[in-house]
Amino acid sequence: MADTASTAESTEKDSHDESHDDSKRDFLLNSTIAVGAAGTVLAVWPFIDSMNPSKDVLALASTELDISSVEVGQSITAIWRGKPVFIRRRTAKEIAAAKAVNLADLKDPEADKDRVKKDQWLILVGICTHLGCIPSGQKSGDVKGDFNGWFCPCHGSHYDTSGRIRKGPAPKNLQVPPYKFIDDTNILIG
Ligand code: FES
Repeated sequence: MADTASTAESTEKDSHDESHDDSKRDFLLNSTIAVGAAGTVLAVWPFIDSMNPSKDVLALASTELDISSVEVGQSITAIWRGKPVFIRRRTAKEIAAAKAVNLADLKDPEADKDRVKKDQWLILVGICTHLGCIPSGQKSGDVKGDFNGWFCPCHGSHYDTSGRIRKGPAPKNLQVPPYKFIDDTNILIG
């Protein structure tokens, strides 16, 4: 009888302990989920925030430039989004040479008229499309390559007076960045 009473008492104790353990487990589980969710929010926020461009990056997203002092036959280099941008005021001879090319002879066929907004002004991202070197040809006296445009000294790519690849390993023409003329002497790149 005493045994029966003791067994009943022990069963009751066990069930009390179990329900105590269950609620403890539930508490721990809920706490873990709550901390986990907070941790996720904290971890995601800096990540999302880092995807928003900072103010200085936004400021550089476009570059306004006064090109009135560039003489015919001269080139200048601007920086847009950290990249060099070549701006060449082409001579009549350079324009004529760019227009005279048979598109069938080009590796990356593009008519000159589709690469400029005004014949005299050629605007290009100054990065070789092979492996990213900066071609020479901006300064008078620079090597300009066989087609009188730009020459990439890294592996010998030659670009013409429209910035199109004519010889060497580069697969594409020099890229024309997005830009517009604000007026006759000011451009906005980007
Ligand atoms: S990077 Fe210009 S030719 Fe290779």
